[in-house]
Amino acid sequence: MSTGSTLDRGASPPMVRVRGLRKSFGDHVVLQDIDLDVASGEVVVIAGPSGSGKSTLCRCINRLEVADSGEITVAGRAVPLEGRELARLRAEVGMVFQQFNLFAHKTVLQNVCLGPVKVLGRKGDQAKQRAMELLDRVGVADHAGKYPAQLSGGQQQRVAIARALAMDPKVMLFDEPTSALDPEMINEVLEVMKGLAADGMTMVVVTHEMGFARSAADRVVFMDGGRVVEEAPPEQFFAAPRSTRAQEFLSKVLTHG
Ligand SMILES: Nc1ncnc2c1ncn2[C@@H]1O[C@H](COP(=O)(O)OP(=O)(O)OP(=O)(O)O)[C@@H](O)[C@H]1O
Ligand SMILES: [Mg+2]
Repeated sequence: MSTGSTLDRGASPPMVRVRGLRKSFGDHVVLQDIDLDVASGEVVVIAGPSGSGKSTLCRCINRLEVADSGEITVAGRAVPLEGRELARLRAEVGMVFQQFNLFAHKTVLQNVCLGPVKVLGRKGDQAKQRAMELLDRVGVADHAGKYPAQLSGGQQQRVAIARALAMDPKVMLFDEPTSALDPEMINEVLEVMKGLAADGMTMVVVTHEMGFARSAADRVVFMDGGRVVEEAPPEQFFAAPRSTRAQEFLSKVLTHG
């Protein structure tokens, strides 16, 4: 976790920089006027009601969606539209989804090694060694030889995190990583994420887990209707949300979540 406000982070450029982002599907504008900086080592939680554009924003950051206009840079470089440069960017931006999207016919170890071998050109042995370190880090090394279906949801999601980390990303995007999990498995995934945050990983996390936001986020960005409505450090956001929309949202998630 980083310290200090966005303003005192000094000369180093933000790890993720979004300016004037706009995205529509047909004539439905789902993101507009989005400005967002994520400093190196910062953990930003994106919160907001369903349909507010949280997933679309994540998907634009790693080019799973192409924005209509605006600027996105990762580690100071513009996000390319296609080709080799795009493959490299995808490697730099790890993404973890609600659905784990592991390859069902490959073992846990194979799932984690595939990207490093195919995309980064790592040697098999080297990739395996690194994969085992990462599986150990997320607490599933004992399951390396199993297939995803033999693991619990929480274990599969931790494998998905290890798989993303195996690409040595500069930033990790998490889109509701615990929403598909049974309640008893949520914490084991959040603990892994807190560990990553504590180790200095730059993270953008879409989540309704406000406990995670309170304890691990440097900043909460609240979205509604395709816009960033407010952003604040978690203590401020939870104690005194400025906008009516954030107040309404919090009264719902804190009562039912
Ligand atoms: N591929 C698509 N085609 C058309 N409309 C889309 C597409 N993806 C998203 N949308 C629309 O864009 C809006 C924002 O969707 P998005 O998934 O980003 O919201 P969200 O904040 O992630 O919501 P949730 O909390 O339900 O995941 C919604 O109105 C959604 O229906
Ligand atoms: Mg979403």
